[in-house]
Amino acid sequence: MKNILYIASEAVPFIKTGGLADVAGTLPRYFDKSKYDVRVMIPNYKCIPQKYKDQMNFITNFYMDLNWRSQYVGILEMEYEGVHFYFIDNEFYFDGFKPYGYIHQDIEKFAFFSKAALSSLPLIGFKPDIIHCHDWQTGLVPVYMKERFHDGDFFRDMKSIMTIHNLKFQGIWDVKSVKDITALPASYFTPDKLEAYGDANYLKGGIVYADKVTTVSESYAEEIKMPFYGEKLDGLMRARSGDLTGIVNGIDYNEFNPETDPLITRNYNQVTFRKEKVKNKIALQKQLGLENDPKKFMIGIVSRLTDQKGFDLIAYVMDELCSEDVQLVVLGTGEERYENMFRHFDWKYNNRVSANIYYSEEMSHKVYASCDAFLMPSLFEPCGLSQLMALRYGTVPIVRETGGLKDTVQPYNEYESTGTGFSFMNYNAHEMLRTVNYAKSVYYGNKREWNKIIDRGMKMDFSWNSSARKYEALYDSL
Ligand code: ADP
Ligand code: GLC
Repeated sequence: MKNILYIASEAVPFIKTGGLADVAGTLPRYFDKSKYDVRVMIPNYKCIPQKYKDQMNFITNFYMDLNWRSQYVGILEMEYEGVHFYFIDNEFYFDGFKPYGYIHQDIEKFAFFSKAALSSLPLIGFKPDIIHCHDWQTGLVPVYMKERFHDGDFFRDMKSIMTIHNLKFQGIWDVKSVKDITALPASYFTPDKLEAYGDANYLKGGIVYADKVTTVSESYAEEIKMPFYGEKLDGLMRARSGDLTGIVNGIDYNEFNPETDPLITRNYNQVTFRKEKVKNKIALQKQLGLENDPKKFMIGIVSRLTDQKGFDLIAYVMDELCSEDVQLVVLGTGEERYENMFRHFDWKYNNRVSANIYYSEEMSHKVYASCDAFLMPSLFEPCGLSQLMALRYGTVPIVRETGGLKDTVQPYNEYESTGTGFSFMNYNAHEMLRTVNYAKSVYYGNKREWNKIIDRGMKMDFSWNSSARKYEALYDSL
């Protein structure tokens, strides 16, 4: 039996800001339980819904030093869908309406969390063979494992893995403050260790000290070795390329299942989608005040509204995109300029654009189920889960060929009748627009072909099963 502990800043269903939460919360369900005991540790944020807090059991508490500070650490646990979760408690650090997002606080918050996570291990009756860290928030875990915890039997043989879900976010702050927070010796703050371009960099520390490094698609693993996608760490990625692999994400096929999903209006499957899927569209048109027309080509977007997701391209051709024969449904929150852009077009083209500037699990399922196409023209995309959800719901993805989008969406080829979606290569608004118009022409002009694209998409298997086997092989190799 191999014991594996995921340490992450978020996990569904407790707390989520993006795809990381889906991965950390659901991937652990899919391991061979007779061989791998995979557990998850996250902060006990104040903003975790009370209904989950009520189910947590207190294990123990202690005080831990963070340099000159002495801080309370509580440990709670609960079982959810067969997975054992631990929660690190501290009301000062994990206060607030959202889990994180203010870097000046987050730097100390996640130094605390990383050290508290390791310090709590001898007290929880679970000794990991491998600690699997996710993103910059846990970058200090492999560092602390080397610096502080390697003595003594408990930690000596423990291995670590660092998974990069998004290289853009690295946890960068000035060296002096990070030294003061972490109490790491000065020798750690050199360009071959935690320092990058004069600052301290948590993710870099994690990448340098982890035994293995992974990211969430094969293409992204290659891309980040080059300057354009490397976010100034491409040199480090090349240096560690022998230990770097890409394992594509999956989604939870039980939760995202058009046949059983209780959040959508009409259930359907690979056979019945031809008749039933459109009933979701009709209901959504009613709910959102769009023109009631079952035939209208409806494009969906469910996304964080940031430049990563290609909204500059959309902004550039928004008028042309929202033509008479298109309906656009947007669900997302993020940068104000994009929120306002969609609000503006919702006002301008009221019966064909619907801007839903909020976060809702339920509405996201409705959009995945109702739309004909799903637009995701990302500038970069480590994996992307939304296009997988769209495929699962028979909603044809239109994507830019980058990272995980390139690995999971096969472009339609009208001559061979292959492909599961539409894609374009260059980060160019008119290339995107042409691709959308091409998809639209197939939808309106050749419904049989369109339905075959849906057919092929719904047959793809992006459940966690195959990725989980790859992680198992990685765990075995350590
Ligand atoms: P990222 O992690 O970069 O945001 P992913 O595609 O990996 O992108 O994951 C995004 C996840 O967040 C998906 O599960 C998607 O459905 C969800 N999501 C994004 N915005 C919203 C929203 N406004 N309401 C509900 N779910 C959302
Ligand atoms: C990040 C990436 C996204 C990926 C997710 C889960 O948020 O932006 O592409 O799917 O992590 O790995």
